[in-house]
Amino acid sequence: MNLKSTKVVIIGVGNVGATCAYTIVNMGLCDQLCLIDMNKEKAIGEAMDLTHAVHFMNRNMQVYAGGYSDCSDADAIIVTASAPMDTSNDRLTWLAPSKKVMKSIVSSVMASGFSGIFIVVSNPVDLMTYYIQKLSGLPERQVIGSGTTLDTARLCCEIGSLFELNSKSVSAYVMGEHGDSEMVAWSTATVGGKQLRDVMEDNRSRAGDVDLDRLQEQTKKAGWEIFNRKHNTSYGIAASTCAILKSILLNENRIYPVSVMLRGQYGLTGVCLSVPTILDRTGAKEIVEIRLAKGESKNLKRSADVVRSCYDLLED
Ligand code: LAC
Repeated sequence: MNLKSTKVVIIGVGNVGATCAYTIVNMGLCDQLCLIDMNKEKAIGEAMDLTHAVHFMNRNMQVYAGGYSDCSDADAIIVTASAPMDTSNDRLTWLAPSKKVMKSIVSSVMASGFSGIFIVVSNPVDLMTYYIQKLSGLPERQVIGSGTTLDTARLCCEIGSLFELNSKSVSAYVMGEHGDSEMVAWSTATVGGKQLRDVMEDNRSRAGDVDLDRLQEQTKKAGWEIFNRKHNTSYGIAASTCAILKSILLNENRIYPVSVMLRGQYGLTGVCLSVPTILDRTGAKEIVEIRLAKGESKNLKRSADVVRSCYDLLED
């Protein structure tokens, strides 16, 4: 019998980290949840508050504030720590300050002997995923960025509301950078197994003429629409991160568009970008190569170029 308890560590307990913690407690995803933050008192306060919440949840969980030595036997570490966000509406402006924070975090985590899976949430997430892969030296499949899992949910919500449908019946991927160069794989989008373009054609009277460019733009800008109103985004990113975590911890083999290192898939190599990926207990088990239309492949390559153009900045 395997009685090993499951342990998750969250590094960075700001809005995103704390909401991830609450979502984990709510979903009952592990036995131990350790919170690490530069502001130890904040981590202690959040852990106390969450411990009281556990009393009402389905799964018992030990929630506590800890240090990097707690990472040694963690199954997964969620990294949300980053430099404070500015209002430039460009995730790339976070790069220099986030890099410094990440370097010290990853060296402390690896010094503990951690050999589990990193789920990277910190922005710019594709660059941070690449950077943590480099810094940690862990197998590439064990460092995964939350990527466009959230953008994909945002897109499915938009399409669902157009046709008055549950967004879960929409299957459509946002791929590439979690940022301005992301693209939608429209040619493979389906609603209840029906090609989106056929759904659009058959529902003109209900949804009118659907402008796909506008939908893509709305999806891309959704994070900023939220940020400009509440000065952070938290529930969506926490829920998508926990869906990824669940597929890993519970060996669900679900497919999410997460940021992973590409090694020849989609004609790209040596770059971390979001593409549909099977997630199991070992991390990114397999990248799924959906057949993109020519223009979509081009857009994905363009997105890869945008991300890759920043790799020089991660050299030191
Ligand atoms: C968002 C942040 C997490 O898109 O980048 O909500």
